[in-house]
Amino acid sequence: MGYIRHNGDWVARANKVLPAGDYGNFGAPLFVKKGKGSRVWDIEGREYIDYLIGSGPMLLGHAHPEVVEVVQEQISLGTTFFTSNVYGIQLAEEICKAVACAEQVRFVSTGGEADMYAMRLARAFTGRDKIVKFEGGYHGMSSEAQMSLAPTTKADFPRAQPDSAGIPESVHAEMLIAPYNDSQFAASLIEEYRNQIAAIIVEPQQRTIPAVPGFLETLRAISDEHGIVLIFDEVVTGFRFAYGGAQETTGVVSDLCTLGKTIGGGFPLAAIAGREEIMRHFDKNIIGAGNWLMMVGTLSGNPVASVAGLKTLEILRREGTYDKLRKNGETVMGMLTRHLHNVGVPHRVVGHPTVFNVVFVDSDVGDYRDLLVEDKLCASEFHSQLIENGILRLAGKFYISLALTQHDFDATESAIETAARSIAQT
Ligand SMILES: Cc1ncc(COP(=O)(O)O)c(C=O)c1O
Repeated sequence: MGYIRHNGDWVARANKVLPAGDYGNFGAPLFVKKGKGSRVWDIEGREYIDYLIGSGPMLLGHAHPEVVEVVQEQISLGTTFFTSNVYGIQLAEEICKAVACAEQVRFVSTGGEADMYAMRLARAFTGRDKIVKFEGGYHGMSSEAQMSLAPTTKADFPRAQPDSAGIPESVHAEMLIAPYNDSQFAASLIEEYRNQIAAIIVEPQQRTIPAVPGFLETLRAISDEHGIVLIFDEVVTGFRFAYGGAQETTGVVSDLCTLGKTIGGGFPLAAIAGREEIMRHFDKNIIGAGNWLMMVGTLSGNPVASVAGLKTLEILRREGTYDKLRKNGETVMGMLTRHLHNVGVPHRVVGHPTVFNVVFVDSDVGDYRDLLVEDKLCASEFHSQLIENGILRLAGKFYISLALTQHDFDATESAIETAARSIAQT
């Protein structure tokens, strides 16, 4: 890509010691050195307005002074003990207050871990093995989650396709894949396999594709009918769509949900939360050894991440926070629509104002397969142009933070206008 033209020696050094020269995360050799508020700087001092925000967690912006203060205080007292700590208990209490399904909480370090445990919990609770997952849905890196995440060929539903090597055939057989937003398909699939399905796992907004009205409600109703555990993956939407996440904005309450990103305030912390009746499978004394899920993690709920998360949630509870967050996003969504419309490039701006994308298609986007017809050249050139012009983001997503200022919006608008003109000429 055009913007990879600096960072000299570090690229060669990275290529030697890191497979593919990176961590597997951000697919370009861009080495960020520091961040403050809405901005980050790379090792050569190049400045970016940040719509990547650490892939979501930095909702408040980088190095928020109040978060830095509590973290520094905790660091000076020790960083991890493996025992429970009072900050984790307070954080769990806050999650239970905020998130509709949450009666109990268990902490882990990553969203992917939380999703893995949620699926395992559902299996323990129901005594069944199959999991329904939606094509294109992302739930971390477990073998189950790597099924039909980003397939390049269109398999017949519900056949699962692995997106990673090393996944045993037995996992394929336990995954049922359905198209997102197709209530009818989901209903008939679940009817067919009803006595074998442990869980439906779903993002309340799949990447940036919103759930159509009625879809999550249908999943809720079918789950209730057949004793299936409904898992909302709220790793992105939790404390982002609203303080109570997508369960607050949609009014649909899952049995379990997974949380991550925002609740750790920029530190490794994620959680499984849900109904006590299901969560009790983590308690051997109640549930007995045969039904118990063992769960250990060296850094789970560590005090630094817990104080960062607690302070982040405290700041998010302040008056007007979510209005501002949504307004920030609507401003950028408006710019994308306006400038791409001005140059006559077919596109759709899809998603919630707090996390969305521009897709270069000329029809509406309702599921993963609708994305496959995107003009990929256009998307890639637009993305490169944005980065060239000082806008950092993940290809396929704009994450919005509270730290964005009018100055940032002016610079963002100018970058979007330049990028739009550039793709109109290609
Ligand atoms: C919806 C969703 N679930 C799970 C995960 C995995 O979280 P983590 O990267 O913390 O493992 C992500 C990460 O982006 C996500 O977007």
